[in-house]
Order: sequence, then C-alpha cells, then structure tokens
Amino acid sequence: MLARARVARLVPLDSSSFFSKRLASTKSLKETLQEVIPAKQEQLRRLKTEHGQAVVGEVKIENIIGGMRGLKAMLWDASVLDPIEGIRFHGHSIPDCQKVLPPAPGGKEIIAESMLWLLLTGQVPTTEQTRELSRELAEKGELPEFVETLIDSLPATLHPMTQLGMGVAALNRESSFQAAYERGIKKSEYWTHTLEDCINLIARLPVLAARIYRNVYRPGTPLPAINKDLDLVGNYSNQLGYGDNQSLTEYLRLYIALHGDHEGGNASAHTAHLVGSTLSDPYLSYSAALFALAGPLHGLANQEVLRWQLAMQKEIGDNITHENIKDYLWKTLKSGQVVPGYGHGVLRNPDPRFIALQEFCNTRPDLKNSPIIQLVTKTSEVAPDVLKEHGKTKNPYPNVDATSGCVLYHYGLTEFKYYTVIFGVSRALGALTQLVWARALGLPLERPKSYSMDALEELIKK
Ligand SMILES: CC(C)(COP(=O)(O)OP(=O)(O)OC[C@H]1O[C@@H](n2cnc3c(N)ncnc32)[C@H](O)[C@@H]1OP(=O)(O)O)[C@@H](O)C(=O)NCCC(=O)NCCS
Repeated sequence: MLARARVARLVPLDSSSFFSKRLASTKSLKETLQEVIPAKQEQLRRLKTEHGQAVVGEVKIENIIGGMRGLKAMLWDASVLDPIEGIRFHGHSIPDCQKVLPPAPGGKEIIAESMLWLLLTGQVPTTEQTRELSRELAEKGELPEFVETLIDSLPATLHPMTQLGMGVAALNRESSFQAAYERGIKKSEYWTHTLEDCINLIARLPVLAARIYRNVYRPGTPLPAINKDLDLVGNYSNQLGYGDNQSLTEYLRLYIALHGDHEGGNASAHTAHLVGSTLSDPYLSYSAALFALAGPLHGLANQEVLRWQLAMQKEIGDNITHENIKDYLWKTLKSGQVVPGYGHGVLRNPDPRFIALQEFCNTRPDLKNSPIIQLVTKTSEVAPDVLKEHGKTKNPYPNVDATSGCVLYHYGLTEFKYYTVIFGVSRALGALTQLVWARALGLPLERPKSYSMDALEELIKK
C-alpha cells in the first residue's frame, strides 16, 4: 500500500475552493501519479507521431569521440540542467525548492520525501503528504534477513560501494516487477510494479547503507531500529550513529535531497536508465548505477576533494593565504592531476548545489569557523582564476563536491570511503523516478548506433 494522507476531519462545507484544496492535498503518491501520467503519455504520443522527424541538433565527430558530451539524445523529465543556471527540478530551482518543499518536523532543510514527490509527480507535496510518505518509507525499511546475512558476511576490507551495489542487487529477490513480469502482466501495468519496487528500494537503501557503515567502521555496535516517526534521512542519521547531531542530520537531509537528480546524462542516472530499458527490475538497474557512481570522475570526487584539501592543509599549515593556496593549486596541476571539486561535464558556472551547501555552512558558526570549511571557501576564491589561466577545463568553477565531503568530515564522519555511499542513497531519488516514468511512458530499449574509426573516415570522404 502506498502512502495515503489522512483525510482532514474539519472541512467547511460552504467553501468549495478550500474543499478542493483539501482533497488535492490528501491524494497519495500513487493516486497523484495516476492523475498526471495520462497527460504525459499523450504529450509523448504527440511528440512521436506529429514531430518524430523534427531535428534537435547535429552529431559531430567530436560528440562521438568525446563521451557524447552535448549530444541531446535522452528523455528525462524530472530535472533539466542549464549550463549557467544549474539544475531545475520540474522547473524549480534550488532556492525555489528550499522555499516550497516541506522540511522534516522541527527541521528547516528540504528532505528526500518532498524532493521525491516533486521529482515523481512534478507537484509540490503538502506537509501531510510528505509525512505520510515518511511513515510509509519507515514501515518498508526493514531488510530481508538474507540480505542482512549477506552484508554481515562481507569482509570489512571490501569497499562500501561494492557492498552497497551487492546488497541492492540481492534485494531483487523481492522485486514486484520481476514477479509480475514472469506472471505475464500487461505493459500498461508495468509502472505500478516498478513504483512499488522503487519505493521499497528507497526505503531500504539507507538501512542497508547504515548497516554497511556499522559493519565496516563501528563493528559490534548495535544498529538502532527504524523510528516510524522520523523521516528517511532522520532515520539514516540515527542508524549511522549521528542522530543526536541535529546539524549533521539537517546537512544530510539537504545534501541527499539536493543531490537526488542531475538530469539523465550523468553516468549513474544514465546507467540506471540504460539497464532499466532492458526491463531489468529497479534493484538490478540501480545496482548497476551504483557501480558507475563508484568511479573517481563521478561519485568518488567528494572523497578526493577532502583528501586533497587535507593534504593542502598539511602542507600550508595555519598560514591560509590566497597566495599559498594558489601555489598548491599550481603544484597539483603541474603534477598532471585534476583539481578535485572543480569542473563539470555540463555546468559552466559555480554549481548552485555548491552555493546552497556553502550557505548552509555560513549560517552555522561551528561550520563557518571550521578550518577545513574555511580552506574550502578560500580555495573557491582562488581556484577559478588559476584554472582559467591553466586553460584546459571548460568550467573553472566549484561543483557540489568541492564542499560536500568536507562538511561530513567537520562533523566527525571522517570515513572518506563511505562518502560515495551517501551519494548513492541520494541519487536513487532521481534515477528511480526515471525508471517509473520509463515504464509509464513505455520507453523502448536504449540502443544507440556506434561507428568504427574507419567508418567515420569513410563518412568524411563522402
Ligand atoms: C567533472 C569532470 C570529470 C568533467 O570532465 P569533462 O567534461 O571532460 O571536463 P572538460 O571538458 O572541462 O575537460 C577538458 C580538459 O580539462 C581538464 N579538466 C577538467 N576539469 C579539471 C580540473 N578540475 N582540474 C584540472 N583539469 C581539469 C580535463 O581533464 C580535460 O583535460 P584533457 O583535455 O587533457 O583530457 C572534470 O571537470 C574533472 O575531472 N573534475 C574533477 C573531478 C570532479 O570534481 N568530479 C565531480 C564532478 S560533479
């Protein structure tokens, strides 16, 4: 059963607009989706039948050999990334989301539930709907015993991302989509089973991730039970062992919500989409995505940033001046390494997610005065000019990872290798949203055409 908000008891009968507002706000996530899907299906049908031959852009050899950069070839409705403005979730910028999306009880930051609702339905949920979704996720969070046994049997030396990917893949024994597919359901019913799997997976991911953290970094400590009155990330923070740190919990809420989606072309989201297009269930699709996320150019960047900033801190000591940082930046670049936390495949401006996290730091004196955060801030004041002078990267500005891991470090969550796991908990929001929509829209198997270099040369001759 998917979330259903309780119907309010006191509805003034003489106020029809208030009444319709109340009704709208009591719809469950599934009911809301059921309402919005037909219009989207119709939009897709029109695009396909009436505009199927319209040209969107051209394909250059530089696109083919350049990792398909700039190639407009994917459908992804939940978020659009503008190179200058940054990410928008169904048209809402990050500051818009911070204004309208309901936070956790007693909290201020956006949370995974309200972001998930927005991504899935394109609508801003009411507080009541958000709370009901939190409760549903808490109720569905328990891991099957065999997955607990599997995770507990893994060596602590196995990378937490490998463990997370394995755990998620193993959860597919529970897949409603797979079972229904084997029974032979109609294509029009695919999305409801996919939604069920996605909600179950989102509910279980943090529990799985917390179990991995405990096994690897806090062996022998008891894992608290899920608290049905807490939101998804409130529970995650609690299970990690940081539940009494409200600042860190709020930070995790913000980070996980903000990082939930970043268009379709990034490696993890794209992987989930590609694997899902074969009708693999959401567990297998997202497990594949997690292994894409584990790469240093993608999800591993936040730990790389921290490692690099700490090495810088060690070298320059307390004398944090722009000049010293500049020297260190050049030393990094001259040794042939990239400056972690800078640059982006699409963005050509400072990442609004970086700005939101920096604002979070600025409003909290402990973070504002933290040596590592001060170093991050000072580095961001110098690095763009150095990178411009270096002249290689198309985007010399900080991305979200320039600061994300450093805040965790400040709060005592110092296990670098774990940081990508938190990213993995977050990115499920967008990648799984897209799987639901891919099934609702009946999107086909993804199968781009590839060329050999000889074939390209032939093409040029012609
Ligand atoms: C994010 C990233 C992978 C994007 O890659 P991209 O789309 O290929 O970026 P560009 O088109 O700007 O790359 C052009 C050149 O600039 C270099 N470059 C890009 N970012 C750089 C950085 N932060 N420091 C130094 N050089 C950089 C690239 O390595 C490339 O060099 P090459 O031609 O010798 O191969 C890249 O900017 C990077 O490696 N950044 C550091 C890691 C990071 O922060 N990742 C998190 C992303 S959210």
